[in-house]
Amino acid sequence: MGQNTYEGDIVIEGVRHIYKGNTVALDGIDLRIGKGLFGMLGPNGAGKSTLMRIICTLLVPTEGRVTVGGYDVVQERRTVRTLLGYLPQEFNAWRLHRVEEVLDTLASLSGLREKASRQERVFEILESVGLDDVADRKVKKLSGGMVRRLGVAQALIHEPRVLVVDEPTVGLDPEERLHFRQLMAKLGQDRIIVLSTHIVADLGSGCSDMALIDHGKVEFRGSPTELMNRAKGSVFEIRVSLNDEAEVTADLEVVSREEKGDEVLLRAVSSNGGLPAGAKPVDNPNLEEAYLAFMAARGCVEEANRKELSS
Ligand SMILES: Nc1ncnc2c1ncn2[C@@H]1O[C@H](COP(=O)(O)OP(=O)(O)OP(=O)(O)O)[C@@H](O)[C@H]1O
Ligand SMILES: [Mg+2]
Repeated sequence: MGQNTYEGDIVIEGVRHIYKGNTVALDGIDLRIGKGLFGMLGPNGAGKSTLMRIICTLLVPTEGRVTVGGYDVVQERRTVRTLLGYLPQEFNAWRLHRVEEVLDTLASLSGLREKASRQERVFEILESVGLDDVADRKVKKLSGGMVRRLGVAQALIHEPRVLVVDEPTVGLDPEERLHFRQLMAKLGQDRIIVLSTHIVADLGSGCSDMALIDHGKVEFRGSPTELMNRAKGSVFEIRVSLNDEAEVTADLEVVSREEKGDEVLLRAVSSNGGLPAGAKPVDNPNLEEAYLAFMAARGCVEEANRKELSS
């Protein structure tokens, strides 16, 4: 283990991944991820799942190196696997089994041979993810949120120091989302959690470190607060009549709208850099607005580049 490596950290250096057919999914990623809840944010196709699969030893990167707790994910794959738990983007196996049975089987596979201690472990995990009441229910009878929490439970069965969860809140209702956010905040207190999502609100207040990934590159690295501070000035409010709304919003990313009589109050970010007449910047952009502002600014940069090339 390297001298500067903190026990448990995930260190990603110069990682590129090119799929067959020449899709560049990751284009030079450098990241160091420590204890707590780490949010990996990015639009569809950004490369989040690819990076997570590499961290979890399921995919060998075309270039670069990743270590978990100082262990190389390619050279020391077995050791790394004992250190981490993974909830894939598609988790829906085990439908015909009972909740308790699923975990008992996995605990057994992870080496917990003794029945009493295994049962204890299974119960402890069910309790920690809030599924103890449905221990004898079949998986197919669980709600979407419960299935996701079972996914977390299965990833935690061998008490890993690192938990990797890929888009865990897709398809959940608002209450289930809230529950899931709370669970992640709690679990993040004493381990590393890497959580990917394109739903900004799902990072929640338990997340103090994040990366924004787009087109296989890290475009922002820092705290959600820093991202929000950067967005100051590019998120604004504007009041327009319903008749003019379509025209005014043509170049805007609308974050929220509130109708009042024949007027509508919009919160929005500009996708071409300019503010429309009558727009007032807001003092306190939220994380979702900051994300949109960031992405919109990048879209603007890309467009500018294209123009430069074609001129
Ligand atoms: N098995 C594969 N073979 C070829 N291309 C792939 C494969 N898996 C992903 N890709 C491509 O690699 C890029 C990154 O995909 P990836 O699934 O990592 O993105 P993502 O950020 O997880 O997206 P999403 O939010 O939709 O889950 C995309 O262009 C995708 O089409
Ligand atoms: Mg994905």
